[in-house]
Amino acid sequence: MPSWIRIHVYADLRLLACCPAVDIARFDMSDACTAILKADSHRSALRRNAVSYFLMNNSGLPFHDSPKSYVSGQSAIMSNFQADTVATIASTLENTGVVRSIGNTPLVRLHRLERHLGLPASIEIHLKIEWVNPGGSIKDRTALSIIQAAIAAGDLDRGQTLIDATSGNTGIAYAMLGAALEIPVTLVVPGSASEERKRTLAAYGAHVVYSDPYEGSDGAIRLVRDLVTDRDHNYFYADQYNNQANAVAHYTTTGPEIWDQTSGRLTHFVAALGTTGTLMGAGGFFRHRGTVELIGVQPAEAFHGIEGLKHLPTAIVPGIFDPSLPDRIEGVDTEEAFDAARALARIEGYFAGSSTGANLAAAARLGSELASKGQPACIVAVGCDGGSRYLSTGLWELN
Ligand SMILES: Cc1ncc(COP(=O)(O)O)c(C=O)c1O
Repeated sequence: MPSWIRIHVYADLRLLACCPAVDIARFDMSDACTAILKADSHRSALRRNAVSYFLMNNSGLPFHDSPKSYVSGQSAIMSNFQADTVATIASTLENTGVVRSIGNTPLVRLHRLERHLGLPASIEIHLKIEWVNPGGSIKDRTALSIIQAAIAAGDLDRGQTLIDATSGNTGIAYAMLGAALEIPVTLVVPGSASEERKRTLAAYGAHVVYSDPYEGSDGAIRLVRDLVTDRDHNYFYADQYNNQANAVAHYTTTGPEIWDQTSGRLTHFVAALGTTGTLMGAGGFFRHRGTVELIGVQPAEAFHGIEGLKHLPTAIVPGIFDPSLPDRIEGVDTEEAFDAARALARIEGYFAGSSTGANLAAAARLGSELASKGQPACIVAVGCDGGSRYLSTGLWELN
């Protein structure tokens, strides 16, 4: 199977996922192939081809499936090929260094932490090191996917300002990509975001509006909605909480990378819940492969200090969240998350943020539970961002 055919499938899958009527997590590759051929009512074949062409030239995407049903259909899609539009979109993004640097992050096994926790060798805990992305977090994948889909769908035109509510990391990723791709960016960020995040946004030249520090990410969401209704013709509202391109980023990159890196041995996937894109996307990918248990992690209480995460029972629930996908959702206290991040730094030498700590605390709990039942496990926890983003916060106030 030539890789360009598979690229078409992934590309069209990504764009399909931007249609509200299409639930990306429900597709496996062969379903996707069939759906692509039927989906012309949502997006024109022209646009789908443009995305495909872009990805052909820029793709670092891993490819796992050989969808035979697509082969007969691909020539029909290619017949709608429009070189000019394709070239415009491709030239906007191709050869952009930061775009090419996103993804393909390392997965490391935490041997020393496993021993420190007293786990048997049959329990493996691995960490996906996402802070090596150029913007310093897993959210680079999200921002790139949202921008790609918006350009391809004609929703983000030259001169329009991308606007979104963000607790910081997606904002940094938008700001970074905005600088590199010449897209003006306005971000609504809770006033409680760490000083490091605020300064990083300023460094990239993004315009930042601060929302009530006591209202957290929900306050930012409410404020961006007010701003967009007032002047919306100037804006492309990226809406990461309701934009399926967010989950698609993880369905097409994070999930397949982890599957490859564990050689398909993955048994448990642990991901903290903010927009829920990581769990929905990568989790949706794993759901179609073997029997991977999907564990979402949220703060144990409504008032918490784990930046980027939502306490779902009391928060605005993201539109992309499908409550039937996770096998369980674990609550982690702020102090427990902080302790785990500190242990990671001191025992393994990895300097990560508090949501990574929350994932590790949940992974450690899970490892002990499985060990007590004599069950082997290959657990992967997401390392969402690095510790230096929190130097001015309580996380690293150590005596
Ligand atoms: C530091 C951090 N960790 C975890 C998450 C959660 O990831 P997701 O939005 O994919 O649920 C976020 C989201 O913004 C974040 O900023």
